[in-house]
Amino acid sequence: MRIGILGSGLMGGKLGTIWARAGHEVVFSYSRSEQKLKKLGRHGTPREAAHDADALLLAVHWSRVDDALKQAGDVAGKVIVSCSLPMNAGDTELVIAHTSSGAEALAKKVPKARVVSAFGTVPSEVLFGVFEARRRARRPSLVYCGDDASSKKIAAQLIRDVGFDPVDAGPLRIARYTEPFTLLIAQLAYEGDEGPELAYRFERFGRKA
Ligand SMILES: NC(=O)c1ccc[n+]([C@@H]2O[C@H](COP(=O)([O-])OP(=O)(O)OC[C@H]3O[C@@H](n4cnc5c(N)ncnc54)[C@H](OP(=O)(O)O)[C@@H]3O)[C@@H](O)[C@H]2O)c1
Repeated sequence: MRIGILGSGLMGGKLGTIWARAGHEVVFSYSRSEQKLKKLGRHGTPREAAHDADALLLAVHWSRVDDALKQAGDVAGKVIVSCSLPMNAGDTELVIAHTSSGAEALAKKVPKARVVSAFGTVPSEVLFGVFEARRRARRPSLVYCGDDASSKKIAAQLIRDVGFDPVDAGPLRIARYTEPFTLLIAQLAYEGDEGPELAYRFERFGRKA
C-alpha cells in the first residue's frame, strides 16, 4: 500500500516507520523539521504525501488538523486513518465529547473522504514493542471504528501490520467512547510506575473458540 503520513511526530513517525518495515510505500510529511523528515525516509509536502495514497494517517495535534488538511489538498475518496484526539492546547481535556467526537468532527470537515478512527487508543511508546512481538500468538487488541466498510478493511490491515489484533467497534460515532477511553490508557501509561509501553487486550468468554 502507499501510505501518506500527515504529521510525522511521535505517532506518525513511528507508525510510518513500522509500515515501511512491513513493506508499504510510505511518504512522511507535515513536520517543521526537514531534517526529521529526511531521517524518517521518503518525504514530501502534505499534498505529495496525499497524492496517490491508498491511505492517509492523520497524526497531528487537534489544533493543527485544519492546517494539515488544507495543505494536503483534495482528499475526496481518500481513506483517512486518524489517531488525532480532540484535545485542548494543554492536552488536559477533550474539547469534543459525549455528543460528538474528534473523528466525527473530522469527517464533517472532509465529507468526501472516508474516515476511520484507529491507533488513538495506545501510547506511541508501545508501538515498536508491539511490532517486535507480532509473531506471538496473543496479540494486543486495537479498537477502530468508521462508517465505510472498504476503508475499515484497509485500516484493519494496517492495524495487523503493526502487530495488533483489530477490534471493529462499529460506526464512527463509537469514537465518542474510544476517545475518552484513551484518557484512561494515558493515565495508566503516564501516571503509573510501570512505564508508558502499555497496550490492552479484550478477552471474550462463554463462546466457542
Ligand atoms: N503521542 C501519543 O502517544 C498519542 C497517542 C494517541 C493519540 N495521539 C494523538 O495523535 C496526534 C499526534 O500526536 P503526536 O504525539 O504524534 O504529536 P507530535 O509528536 O507533536 O507530532 C505532531 C506532528 O505535527 C507536526 N506539526 C507541523 N506543524 C506544526 C505546528 N505548527 N505545530 C505543532 N506541530 C506541528 C509536528 O512537527 P514537528 O515534527 O516539527 O514537531 C509533528 O511532526 C495527536 O492528536 C494526539 O492527541 C498521540
